[in-house]
Amino acid sequence: MSGLLNGKRILVTGVLLESSIAFHTAKLAQEQGAEVVLTGFGRLSLVERIANRLPKPAPVIELDVANTEHLDTLADRVRQHVDGLDGVVHSIGFAPQDALGGNFLNTPWESVATAVQVSAYSLKSLTMATLPLFENGGSVVGMDFDATVAWPQYDWMGVAKAALESTSRYLARDLGKENIRVNLVSAGPIKSMAAKSIPGFEELAKVWDDRAPLTWDLADPEPAARGVVALLSDWFPKTTGEIVHVDGGLHAIGA
Ligand SMILES: NC(=O)c1ccc[n+]([C@@H]2O[C@H](COP(=O)([O-])OP(=O)(O)OC[C@H]3O[C@@H](n4cnc5c(N)ncnc54)[C@H](O)[C@@H]3O)[C@@H](O)[C@H]2O)c1
Repeated sequence: MSGLLNGKRILVTGVLLESSIAFHTAKLAQEQGAEVVLTGFGRLSLVERIANRLPKPAPVIELDVANTEHLDTLADRVRQHVDGLDGVVHSIGFAPQDALGGNFLNTPWESVATAVQVSAYSLKSLTMATLPLFENGGSVVGMDFDATVAWPQYDWMGVAKAALESTSRYLARDLGKENIRVNLVSAGPIKSMAAKSIPGFEELAKVWDDRAPLTWDLADPEPAARGVVALLSDWFPKTTGEIVHVDGGLHAIGA
């Protein structure tokens, strides 16, 4: 059977529950012919249980993107399962509670620093940690939420996403000569664990009902995952530093 990712070896971070965008990305990637290795943060037995629901078995490696030892040993631990990589999916975001939900003016630097380290700087950390595994170039894809405007409730996570957008452009600049593409999918709101931790998320999501030209289903992570798989494939060979909106078209509509 021919698939978009036939023969490709893909590392997918960020699987936590079945609602994770990363779970749907891993599932579609397998269905499109890829060999998938997962990383999990903290609750590894939960991640392994969720991984068992994928069409094919996928090993789970531990990765906290804020842990230097985890990053330093990542390539060797991935190599225990695959001999190289053709793609890496960064589907990781975190901000402490006091950095979200309307507390923007009072958030301390420590909380901002955590949000930026885990949600933005980690795109660089993860890419550099896996660089030795890319023999013939490849594709790095991260998950974005449009950071060109300010949103209700999103606060310092929005600032972290602006940093993520910029980080992906600088990575694209520096890794292009190695034929490594770095792109983001800017997704509309999806009811995942990360979304539930944002107080007032539903209010933010209501904008989509009112303005998105295409319908948008908060409970369906598959459209975003399809965008990621497309960027991992050979069908965007000269696209890097790009942000592909998978948001029902909302970004294009002013009011
Ligand atoms: N849900 C949405 O509305 C939405 C919209 C646009 C973009 N995104 C982005 O999509 C990505 C995935 O989020 P999701 O919605 O699937 O939620 P999710 O909660 O399923 O995934 C977030 C993941 O980040 C991981 N993570 C947190 N801290 C980590 C750390 N220190 N090291 C490694 N991993 C860590 C969690 O374990 C989890 O797997 C995030 O970047 C998020 O910002 C989400």
